[in-house]
Amino acid sequence: MYTKKIVIALLLFTTTFSFSQGKDLPKDFLSNSFHKERRAALRAKMPKNSVAVFFANATRNRANDVDYVYHQDPNFYYLTGYKEQNSVLLVFSEDQQSDKGSFNELFYIQRRDARAEMWNGYRLGVEGVKKMGFKDVFVGEEFANISIDFSKFDKIIFTDFKNDVRDDKRNKADLYDLIKTFKTKISYQTSTSKMPASDKNIKVATNIDVRMLSGIMATLREVKTKEELVLLKKAVRISAMGQVEIMKAMHPGMSETEVQGIHEFVYKKYGAEYEGYPSIVGAGNNGCILHYVENNKLSLNNDLVLMDLGAEYRGYTADVTRTIPANGKFSKEQKLIYDLVYEAQEAGIAQYVIGGKISTPGQTARRIVNEGLVKLGIIKTVNDRHMYWAHGTSHHIGLDVHDPGNYKTFEENMVLTMEPGIYIPDGSDCDPKWWGIGVRIEDDILITKNGPVNLSADAPRKSDEIEKMMRKKSIFSHYTLPDLDKK
Ligand code: GLY
Ligand code: MN
Ligand code: MN
Repeated sequence: MYTKKIVIALLLFTTTFSFSQGKDLPKDFLSNSFHKERRAALRAKMPKNSVAVFFANATRNRANDVDYVYHQDPNFYYLTGYKEQNSVLLVFSEDQQSDKGSFNELFYIQRRDARAEMWNGYRLGVEGVKKMGFKDVFVGEEFANISIDFSKFDKIIFTDFKNDVRDDKRNKADLYDLIKTFKTKISYQTSTSKMPASDKNIKVATNIDVRMLSGIMATLREVKTKEELVLLKKAVRISAMGQVEIMKAMHPGMSETEVQGIHEFVYKKYGAEYEGYPSIVGAGNNGCILHYVENNKLSLNNDLVLMDLGAEYRGYTADVTRTIPANGKFSKEQKLIYDLVYEAQEAGIAQYVIGGKISTPGQTARRIVNEGLVKLGIIKTVNDRHMYWAHGTSHHIGLDVHDPGNYKTFEENMVLTMEPGIYIPDGSDCDPKWWGIGVRIEDDILITKNGPVNLSADAPRKSDEIEKMMRKKSIFSHYTLPDLDKK
């Protein structure tokens, strides 16, 4: 009786809850037809008689019974639009026959589960996923019964497994189980040479290829479609607006944490869901740590503040850096370093042209920076090996902040960053007047027939334009909160 009541309650809950799905939710995600067309594009690039297999991203634990906010694997999302966990997609190069007809893809997804949905939110289930344009959709539990003979394919292509998937013992069809089933079905071994002698008679499949698929996906993803560009441009413009608002709001008494908060508040106000990567806000010497994410210095003082931040909008992430003086005016040394990075960036951006080598802008920028550092007496010759700029300049952005690509030549509708920098940490082998200056300027550049288009241009880059923007009134100057310590 008691159990019956619970079942009825859960059923009622599911029905009511399902009823409210889809109301007041954003509608500008990638369309079902985009994902379908991308699966067709993948099929066209696959070798004959092959199957490509994609797994959803793993759920990652934060602490105890709390997980990190789930983020779908970008390749998986690109091909499906499915944002849930514990699922696997198989794409076949040619139609496969079964007694129920032909199919060219199989999709195993999370089943609906009233109890799980009460705790963790709505699931689409088989019916919901069919509405997304998939014909052959099954619950994950059925994957164990898949009747595909994998040995008949010339190639089984997938990305090799990382050893970071936990087994949720209560779920018989979680990612761990799906991978385990798949490994058994294809006779997978990590490396035959590492197998114990006793296992050497196990049949090892020779049709497995764990490299090819990332190359194919990079080729698909490196050039953006019109639909992707709408979302990517929006992510970049939102991020640039975050930079503009902080330019107006910043003062030396602010903390790095508060600066980060203002950026992220602006993103969310524009409707961006997440940060595309951990926000970097480093004042002074902290700006010299390339991936500084503590952002916990209590006071910016009169330092330069390096802010590398990107909003994620409907899956697409920007990657924009501005470096600005906390007090609104560059000191002589700060300006000399800043203007040198700016000059290098400008020269590099000009080389974001169709047919040009992707490596060229970085080489140009490095030459300019090295010549500048010699003139300023920071290094002795342009050939000096130094650590004042240790990273590259140009990576694709998209569903990943470091989006996959082949990194050969620029093509129309690619979007890449241009991000030179100079970092002179305290204690460097140069005049101490330069110490604690870290500068990076990073913009997101669209390649077009008419030349490079700077998508993040709304945020000023020239030193005098930054100073001008910093003199403007800020909406945040009136945003004060009660003092918690005041009695
Ligand atoms: N925000 C990471 C990068 O600039 O590549
Ligand atoms: Mn970058
Ligand atoms: Mn960046």
